[in-house]
Amino acid sequence: MEKMVIEGGYPLNGRVRVNGAKNAALPIMAACLLIHGTSKLRGIPELTDVKTLCDILNELGVETKKCQDGSLDITVKDESNITAPYDLVRRMRASICVLGPLLGKRGMAKVSIPGGCSIGSRPIDIHLKGIEALGAEVEVKDGYVIATGEKLKGSRVYLGGPYGSTVLGTCNIMMAAVLAEGRTIIENAACEPEVQDLANFLNKAGANISAIGENNLIIDGVDELNGVDYEIIPDRIEAGTIMIAGAITGGNIVLENDASCYLASVIDKLREAGVYIDLRDAVNNSSGYENKGECIVKSDGNIKPINLTTLPYPGMPTDMQAQFTTLLSIANGTSVITERVFPHRFMHIAELNRMGANIMNEDAIAIIKGVSSLSGTTVMASDLRASASLIVAGLAAKGVTEIRRLYHIDRGYERLEDRLANLGAKIWREKE
Ligand code: EPZ
Repeated sequence: MEKMVIEGGYPLNGRVRVNGAKNAALPIMAACLLIHGTSKLRGIPELTDVKTLCDILNELGVETKKCQDGSLDITVKDESNITAPYDLVRRMRASICVLGPLLGKRGMAKVSIPGGCSIGSRPIDIHLKGIEALGAEVEVKDGYVIATGEKLKGSRVYLGGPYGSTVLGTCNIMMAAVLAEGRTIIENAACEPEVQDLANFLNKAGANISAIGENNLIIDGVDELNGVDYEIIPDRIEAGTIMIAGAITGGNIVLENDASCYLASVIDKLREAGVYIDLRDAVNNSSGYENKGECIVKSDGNIKPINLTTLPYPGMPTDMQAQFTTLLSIANGTSVITERVFPHRFMHIAELNRMGANIMNEDAIAIIKGVSSLSGTTVMASDLRASASLIVAGLAAKGVTEIRRLYHIDRGYERLEDRLANLGAKIWREKE
């Protein structure tokens, strides 16, 4: 096993390119189950979650081929298998996104139920309600969801849950409905940019999806989808994480292939915390999909306290909560964070407190009393974004930080340490 070692205290300076979005890549790769011919996906990041989904697709008779130019070619070769087994699904909760396309194309799906994880219990009840509304019969047996429906029928379905819309639930029902008979309207659809990217990909392949990015998403069934060449959007969470790394170290960085058009809530809060952000060359269109501009982030390292609440898009992303917790741990005063998407997603707090932070957590609220500095020690990563928050903490801390259970970071950030090192951070991997 490997650990990450960081010698803190070096401001980040320079340019960094934002990679393709993990959470767009995964459902778009799964959507290839619906498609005739080969789809060429560009901008797919090199991550263990992507590798896991390739393994599941291979198991389901799909060829995944990495090309020399970095693109990923995906072709369905054999449609006979409909089972996504536990041994693969348990590696990544997002594997549930094969349920909708398998059912929509092959008329049956047997997918292992993903367990909970360190960010919460993570039920899939809304996914199941959605496919039932399309006429599928659903049985939960021996840890598997077995869904059957030879010809699904469009329907109106409300997909809201106790914490708002569901991202992968919306993706699953969209993918199940795209080849169904007639019109499906998903009410309280998730509007996240990654959900929009999936809809845009499907439309390019021949689907008829409208009101993309709106609360009531409309899917008119078509007979067939065909392979396309598609570039996925940049990763807003990777971009936001690097912005915070720049801010906490008192750095001056430029993000290329910028994702700031999807980061209004994050940029707003960073500015409120005293971080200078300049969006250069941003194409000013309402959907923001043409934005290939640059984002400049500058900070003198003096962070003001702020309050924030995570919400579904376009609110503050829950996937940025842990990184903001780190940033605010060295603010000049007290901040309050309220988690409204995954109310128990606070495993990083105990580790940050071991680094000298002063954070109290009760229910879905974290109260962060800013301290003058963090100090390096050995900490344990509990999930992907918690790992990112500890890396950010290590960059700012006095002394050396070692982060164990590093495999989490490779699920969602491609070679993060090399890219931070290129910006002047002292960060490297070592064998544990
Ligand atoms: C997606 O997970 C992302 N994953 C998560 O990113 C992200 O944190 C989350 O959306 C919220 O933005 C991928 O896109 C692969 P949800 P998802 O269904 O779709 C409850 C990361 O770090 N709910 O939108 O699984 C649920 O428990 C990851 O990259 C139900 O109650 O999240 C939560 O409280 C982690 N029943 C809320 O809804 C359901 O059937 C939102 O979850 C489904 C969800």
